[in-house]
Amino acid sequence: MFRSAGAFKRPLKSDRFSIAFAQKWLYSRYLRGLDDGGSQAVNETIPRGYTMRRMTVVSTKGGVGKTTVAANLGGLFADLDYRVLLVDADVQPTLSSYYAIRSQATGGLFQLLVSGVTENVISSTIISNLDLIVSNDPTGQLPNLLLHAPDGRTRLRHLLDQIDTPYDVVILDTQGSLGVLQDAAVLASDLLISPLPPEMLSAREFSRGTLDMLERLRPMSQLGLPVPPLVAVLNRIDRTRNALQIAAALRDELFTASKDRIRLLETVIPNLVAYREAACLGVPVHRHESTRPVGRTAPAARETMLALAHELLPDRAADVSRLSSETLA
Ligand SMILES: Nc1ncnc2c1ncn2[C@@H]1O[C@H](COP(=O)(O)OP(=O)(O)O)[C@@H](O)[C@H]1O
Ligand SMILES: [Mg+2]
Repeated sequence: MFRSAGAFKRPLKSDRFSIAFAQKWLYSRYLRGLDDGGSQAVNETIPRGYTMRRMTVVSTKGGVGKTTVAANLGGLFADLDYRVLLVDADVQPTLSSYYAIRSQATGGLFQLLVSGVTENVISSTIISNLDLIVSNDPTGQLPNLLLHAPDGRTRLRHLLDQIDTPYDVVILDTQGSLGVLQDAAVLASDLLISPLPPEMLSAREFSRGTLDMLERLRPMSQLGLPVPPLVAVLNRIDRTRNALQIAAALRDELFTASKDRIRLLETVIPNLVAYREAACLGVPVHRHESTRPVGRTAPAARETMLALAHELLPDRAADVSRLSSETLA
């Protein structure tokens, strides 16, 4: 499925080490103390060699960075020459307008889910390789329609299976509240990504809401739809002592308590104005900030996004390294 994968030979030593090693080194300097005990708290829920194709960015809370992560991961994978589809499953269509549209389809998520048609629902964006199913349900009928359809929660998964275009990566963005549309997006994916800002309130909300959501959907596995593994990524981390302490506490308490159900990614997304600027400009953040500004400790957004891509596609890490040196150079 990954078009580019077969074309590559064994990773060069420099490929393997350059980005991954630089990231770890930079982060360990940047987040002094934050890594302590972190690796013990991380639980492996993703089997080795796990190949993931669909990722849903999810949280029970708004404003944590879901759309930011979805848009920028999509933009990065597209620039790495993967064929990417973004699906905006948030009734508030932020992701739909993140990148300018090159060619607008007549339909979007509404037609996909209600009419069950996969034709004329995919728009293309001005980013090469990056397509989009827009959220187009201004009157908010979709959740109700799905709620009353017998296959409401599984329909999105089955329809995505029917799309003819061979996408390498599909990234679904969701709204920050529980609901049938969020359930449908969760069950449509192979991996859940949950951005987690370091406020204690969101940690509590995270453990209560997110784990409850996973638990509630667990019976779906009897229908052949297991709840995908969930990875959390710390987002908007400042170097202030408070933020560091809270993030360390999160690693220690929250993720130890979650046993084998959540994996906390090593990649940490710093709180940088670059993410807001890139959103305003409608460009992927790795393009907007490709190098670290002089005098700043936090790594360039490009490095962070590449590290995230490495972690999310562990079995494709060599490809990501190679592609990044070939296509992003
Ligand atoms: N790492 C970050 N650094 C700075 N600002 C960020 C970061 N991540 C997200 N933001 C900003 O936070 C706000 C909320 O993010 P958004 O992705 O829209 O959250 P959600 O989709 O979860 O509601 C946006 O203004 C976004 O630009
Ligand atoms: Mg959003």
